[in-house]
Amino acid sequence: MKLLFVASEAVPLVKTGGLADVAGSLPKALRDRGAEVRVMIPKYASIPQSVIERMETVATFTVGVGWRTQYCGLKKAEVEGIIYYFIDNEFYFKRGDGIYGYGDDAERFVFFSLAVLESLIYMDYRPELLHCHDWQTGLIPFLLKTRYQHDPACRDIATVYTIHNMKYQGVFGIELLMDLLGAGGELFGSDGLEFYGAGSCMKGALLYADKLTTVSPTYAREIQTDSYGERLDGLLRYRSADLSGIVNGIDTESFDPMADPALEFPYRNSLTRKRKNKLALQRELGLPESAETPLIGVVSRLVDQKGFYLVEAVLESLAEEDMQLVVLGSGDPHYEYVFRNATERWPDKVKVWLGFNDALARRIYAGSDMYLMPSSFEPCGLSQLIALRYRSVPIVRETGGLKDTVLAYNENTGEGNGFSFAHYNADDMLYTVRRALDCYRDEHVWETIVANGGKSDCSWDQSARAYMSVYAGLLSKRKESIT
Ligand code: GLC
Repeated sequence: MKLLFVASEAVPLVKTGGLADVAGSLPKALRDRGAEVRVMIPKYASIPQSVIERMETVATFTVGVGWRTQYCGLKKAEVEGIIYYFIDNEFYFKRGDGIYGYGDDAERFVFFSLAVLESLIYMDYRPELLHCHDWQTGLIPFLLKTRYQHDPACRDIATVYTIHNMKYQGVFGIELLMDLLGAGGELFGSDGLEFYGAGSCMKGALLYADKLTTVSPTYAREIQTDSYGERLDGLLRYRSADLSGIVNGIDTESFDPMADPALEFPYRNSLTRKRKNKLALQRELGLPESAETPLIGVVSRLVDQKGFYLVEAVLESLAEEDMQLVVLGSGDPHYEYVFRNATERWPDKVKVWLGFNDALARRIYAGSDMYLMPSSFEPCGLSQLIALRYRSVPIVRETGGLKDTVLAYNENTGEGNGFSFAHYNADDMLYTVRRALDCYRDEHVWETIVANGGKSDCSWDQSARAYMSVYAGLLSKRKESIT
């Protein structure tokens, strides 16, 4: 099985969100199960110099973007045992640290999509299947089935498209997309990119990819409804037979509290050793050192999706509780202000660290007793999985992947690895946090919940198998239709 992953980011080379973790770690899990997987991403300025120095040139060619002809270099380097290809064009991708948010993002990712397809002609690898991720690669299945359908290098390639978040669809002016793609009326109509008068890159994949997946079974159901479908729910319902939800895993070697260089006290199941990490974290952040005080951790982009609206609404009541709250992240200036302000108001209870800091993030997972993630929607969520791995008990809203990975503690059966609430409502969240704090005070109950969390499978094991069967199903169908 020869696969090519196409994404706009992948750990350890470039990351802005969970997509990068998946595009970086799933290929390794698939390789371990016998698939041949390579990955293609843009060659950004922020890719580590050590990797840039090792790149070889596979081919150089040109790509037509609208009326212009653009240079494209196809490079290659092995990273952690996986072969990566890089689409090189310095005008589009050598732009300082940011990878999205430029005025010409439409053009940059139209170029990327076309360059990926052109690469298939020049590459030293013949993939049978392209696995594309998110809007930045949404045009690829569309182009493959339309403009490239008779191209010998592309003709028999199957496509899988994974939705990591319906909120980001790559919607641009339809005239702009027509210009960049050199397209006309074919972009309109029910099988075109046209979307409420604009043009949607994601729609191209939802229409044309052979199989659609998203990152949890609950989210796969939710996006077929008006509340979560971001105006594409009708199309998703139409394609429901080809849509499935597969929960993400995490790289359990990288996220291992027993072997994490960021931690002072390695541990696995010992709560006593975990609490030493809590004391170290309190010391590091200038919070009163107390092994007994429950510490709630948050590591997140500070945006509405993650439920900070609810946290803000009940912050005062939370601060009255006997607990400490540690927040690491950045994002919406409003929430940055809210947490900075809370730190000043309750210096013994709340600490915020604005920005991203991987080592501190790991110390928060290790040092916290509970992990709060009250998202308004959550396609999968990786933080709750890392929290489970670090024995920090997740408190989540029952949506998307949070619902599929966190089971609320039930005192009658002793089952459950966390706490959850159904409605996106601040009082329900506060009630649930208080319930977790109560359980924490009962050492026996707490040990049970933590131990249940320790048994949760956060690895790629099951999910890599599920992807393999999606690929195998498609490839065997292809073979039948070709022969
Ligand atoms: C997006 C989603 C998140 C998911 C990640 C990886 O960032 O918001 O829920 O875990 O993609 O699939």
